[in-house]
Amino acid sequence: MNMKDVGIDAVEFRSGKLKLDLPGTFAEVKDEDPAKYTKGLGLHASSFPDAYEDIVTMAANASKRLMDRKGLEPDDIGRIDVATESAFDHSKPVSTYVAGCLEQVYDGDFRHANKGERKFACIAGTQSVDDAVNWIAADKNRGRAAIVISTDTALYERGDSGEATQGAGAVAMLIDEDPDLVTIEPEQGIGSVDETDFLKPNQQFPSVDGKRSMQVYLMRMREALEDYETQVETHPDDFAFIPFHTPFPGMVRKAAPLGYRHVARGTEVEDELAEEIGRQPRPEAFDDDEAYREALKEYTDKLTETERYQEWYSRAIEPTLDISSRVGNWYTSSVHLARISALKHARENGIDLDNERLLVGSYGSGAQAEIHGETVQPGWEDEIAQLNVDDQLVERYDISWEEYEAIHDVHNHEESVDVDPLTTPDGEFVFDGWGRMGERK
Ligand code: HMG
Repeated sequence: MNMKDVGIDAVEFRSGKLKLDLPGTFAEVKDEDPAKYTKGLGLHASSFPDAYEDIVTMAANASKRLMDRKGLEPDDIGRIDVATESAFDHSKPVSTYVAGCLEQVYDGDFRHANKGERKFACIAGTQSVDDAVNWIAADKNRGRAAIVISTDTALYERGDSGEATQGAGAVAMLIDEDPDLVTIEPEQGIGSVDETDFLKPNQQFPSVDGKRSMQVYLMRMREALEDYETQVETHPDDFAFIPFHTPFPGMVRKAAPLGYRHVARGTEVEDELAEEIGRQPRPEAFDDDEAYREALKEYTDKLTETERYQEWYSRAIEPTLDISSRVGNWYTSSVHLARISALKHARENGIDLDNERLLVGSYGSGAQAEIHGETVQPGWEDEIAQLNVDDQLVERYDISWEEYEAIHDVHNHEESVDVDPLTTPDGEFVFDGWGRMGERK
């Protein structure tokens, strides 16, 4: 158990500066109904990195904004962890490149700071937050905070089924004692099995069995929720929002009934629902997992038709999906974007979140899901007010199909392609060729 209150003190967001319009440009070239993207997958656009952006520059630019906003110097930071599945270096962690960038602009250096890189597909962002929280809870931090950055260029091979779900960006989080945003509760539910539905063995773009990856997501989430339930009693009213890993909003729409079913278990809500749609199936009542899954599907189909569920979905889930629908999958950042999206929605709609709880569901292919609770802290509103999410998204340059193809080639690590940038750097770290990483322009 954490003796101290530790969690996310502040957060920053950095989107790739280009935008690919999915119902417009993408659907037209693919000759698909735009509703497949907007209604089916729940996506309107993807963020793309310009030719001078990559995982390091996006991470460093987000971290610089975070440090400036919080008035931090390198001496205040004892740890820099980067979570990514888009790393280009098999030895040096991306955090060393990020520290190198930041040292160009601050007095002092990060010589004293412990740096690392975490990998477990998209769940690595949450694992890095957990590592930093534990480091502080164990009193190893000597009064310093940690910066945890999730950063990815989530690109698929052109023509792959995942192409519509691409995205690129970074989230930088300051992890500290007595945080302003959320404290992280110690209980964790885990569901983890060796899987091969999405993987990148010595390759940049993933080999993915898209349909199976959705089933694996649901199975691991279910296990993690079951494991969480063995430790924490829950009720649907306990959680203001439920941010889940969002490869695309349609995936969370499929996972949400599982979440509801679990948080309602053992409460009067389950009893009331039993009269309307029957009892929830329990795994111990079935001989095999397949029969249990079928019974579950039948139950959740009925559940999603109930008014009670639909109200809960609009309140606790829908607001977590807004940013994702505008930027695509940012892999390690995805669940952290869902949290930002919910808090931003609450601020814009005058919802009081002080001391309210979130139930956070992280997931990484390969595959592991993790569930934990968070408590929103009274400083949350001031923190969220300082984010410039909408400005960054509105300012993105809308790329044509030809520009998309050229930019996609630039970000293929396996080939070296040179194209002119489509936007102009604005006092930021830029990628300007190997060995000149992170120069500021
Ligand atoms: P697809 O096969 O091209 O799409 O790709 P589809 O035909 O299944 O259509 C998608 C949805 O749109 C369906 O909804 C259609 O019915 C609907 P569903 O039936 O599933 O509810 N649709 C329409 N709706 C309204 N009007 C229309 C229309 N047409 C169709 N006209 C797929 C889908 C997910 C397979 C693909 O995007 C893919 O391969 N994505 C990459 C893998 C992925 O994101 N998996 C998610 C779970 S794994 C995960 O989250 C981990 C990950 O983030 C990686 C990591 O951890 O590192 C990916």
